[in-house]
Amino acid sequence: MSKKLYIKTYGCQMNVYDSVRMADCLAPLGYQSSDTPEDADLVILNTCHIREKAEDKVYSDLGRIRAEKQRKAANGEKMLIAVGGCVGQAEGAEIIKRAPYVDMVLGPQSYHQLPEMVTRAIRDGGGVVELDFPTVQKFDLLPEASSSQGVSAFLSVQEGCDKFCSFCVVPYTRGAEYSRPMAAIEKEARQMVAQGTMEITLLGQNVNAYHGEDEQANVSSLSDVIARLAKIDGLERIRYTTSHPRDMSDDLIAIHGSEPKLMPFLHLPVQSGSDNVLKRMNRKHNAEFYLDIIARLRKSRTDIAFSSDFIVGFPGESDKDFEDTMKLVEQVQYAQAYSFKYSPRPGTPAATDDQQVPEEVKDERLQRLQALIRHQQTVFNKSTVGKMMTALLDRDGKHEGQLLGKTPYMQSVHVQGNEGSRGQLTEVRITEGFMNSVSGEITGTQPHLRKAN
Ligand code: 5AD
Ligand code: SF4
Repeated sequence: MSKKLYIKTYGCQMNVYDSVRMADCLAPLGYQSSDTPEDADLVILNTCHIREKAEDKVYSDLGRIRAEKQRKAANGEKMLIAVGGCVGQAEGAEIIKRAPYVDMVLGPQSYHQLPEMVTRAIRDGGGVVELDFPTVQKFDLLPEASSSQGVSAFLSVQEGCDKFCSFCVVPYTRGAEYSRPMAAIEKEARQMVAQGTMEITLLGQNVNAYHGEDEQANVSSLSDVIARLAKIDGLERIRYTTSHPRDMSDDLIAIHGSEPKLMPFLHLPVQSGSDNVLKRMNRKHNAEFYLDIIARLRKSRTDIAFSSDFIVGFPGESDKDFEDTMKLVEQVQYAQAYSFKYSPRPGTPAATDDQQVPEEVKDERLQRLQALIRHQQTVFNKSTVGKMMTALLDRDGKHEGQLLGKTPYMQSVHVQGNEGSRGQLTEVRITEGFMNSVSGEITGTQPHLRKAN
């Protein structure tokens, strides 16, 4: 008998990928994915612990789902609630103490144990917690991917992080760096392409530190993975995220210039433009090192554009340090960027630093930085007006006949669709640029289809 499964995903793309794999894992038990928690037999919150806000959201959502569980119970029906992801890993059984209606808590390394956990929760009435970092990697134990993610899809190649930036929970919640073997990655990519995927984003918390083994047990780099996947017919676009500047190796920089399927857009977080702050963050690079990597990437691929992450109000950040961040942003000229106020995370070194920055100072700095970033995004989007680009049109827009997709630069593009352009890689001319998107017009050719003929 079919049962309803609702998964809510918070946070990073790694979680988006993990949610797909959890659904795959539960399909043999008869669970079918649903878009709403109403009437669900199993609700999984795949959580994020990166900043306090993300965590607070989980607890407020849990309250709402509890009401649904009670409503079902009044009808004599059962709903199981699981908290997975990084809050699950970080807080473990504490979650069940705080929210006793939660039946299961599990960390990101334990998803392959979900079917057994669900069986136990049904049998024993909840209280099931799995937080192990097993020696056998979860990727080997998860079922082969079955559900199609669509024309643009994520593929995890690496997990965990050994960098220990002093603000970040990832090394604690996701554990040590692990790279999947090349053969497993290629096999999964081929399956995805066979199901219609045209764009793959290779994922990892520190993806460019990839060092998996190939069939001859030689250590491969991320550029080897890219080169291998680029040979797959039907796969048209490759991206990867998230990278650390320290791991931007020569071969990876070089492949940006030589592999046309690798998109000319890179998310390369710098966090701060101040050497003082970067040192306190334990980033293992200074501003000059980062700017040099940017310059080398621009030399390798002249039309590349960048995005980044920034933290403002890190402990000890002075006015001058913040100005250094603004200066770096001016120097790079980003196409896009994300910025956050520093949020102390329990268990990380920076959380107990005695030079915390007052909230109002953080607010003010964030506003200034975001205004500059918004300006740069607008400038970038307007600079693409008149250009011909391919757009992967994967969604319907709000208006009749409108299609939405992404340009090579990850710009959201909207066009008036024509018969058959949905789900296709289509050539468009950019006609207008805004702060968060561009509009375009279809010029009639569909490179993907044309190539296949
Ligand atoms: N406070 C604020 N931002 C953070 N990030 C990671 N940890 C914190 C924190 N404690 C940001 C970083 C990272 C992005 C995913 O989240 O900028 O690159
Ligand atoms: Fe966190 Fe990224 Fe630093 Fe790793 S490299 S500790 S994931 S911010």
